[in-house]
Amino acid sequence: MARNKLRTAGVLSGVAATLLLAACSNDAPASPEAATEALSAASLPPPYNEADVAAGEGLFLVHKCGSCHFLEAGAGNRIGPNLHGVFDRRAASLEGFAYSEAFKTLDLAWTPEEVDRLITDPKAFAPGTSMFYNGVYDETERKNLIAYLMVATSN
Ligand code: HEC
Repeated sequence: MARNKLRTAGVLSGVAATLLLAACSNDAPASPEAATEALSAASLPPPYNEADVAAGEGLFLVHKCGSCHFLEAGAGNRIGPNLHGVFDRRAASLEGFAYSEAFKTLDLAWTPEEVDRLITDPKAFAPGTSMFYNGVYDETERKNLIAYLMVATSN
């Protein structure tokens, strides 16, 4: 358990360093303000303003979202579509990604609530989806994960 925590902390600091490097090209040691700004939930709508964004960042990897999705603009698609700017984007609307028929018939734009429904149980949300993923069953985990997504897909 302690070892897992250490490993998670290592991954997190690596990702935070990447975010910081992307945010400023300056070589000075990472400032705590910048890290807080990059990972802060304060500006998000409730209940996400009370979420733990750093925990969400870890969950993105733990729940394997990161094996199938890139979040950075211009990073391209993986097995799943790039999620940069996904909030307010129409479902199945990214050009050049081969969505399933199930997704193409979804008539919605992604809100935090719709993403919550999707990741709770993708197969129930869109029967026939090619997002082969069981779901995140824990409500708090989903909240933290979505808060992280809101921060990381919008900058
Ligand atoms: C095994 C690969 C895989 C995993 C793991 C996965 N996804 Fe996906 N995801 C996909 C695929 C493929 C699609 C497109 C589904 C379709 O067309 O039916 C998708 C679609 C999405 C969409 C909608 C994108 C759009 O353009 O409409 C969101 C949001 C999303 N995934 C979030 C997540 C999150 C959050 C996680 C982790 C909890 C996750 N995904 C885990 C493969 C994956």
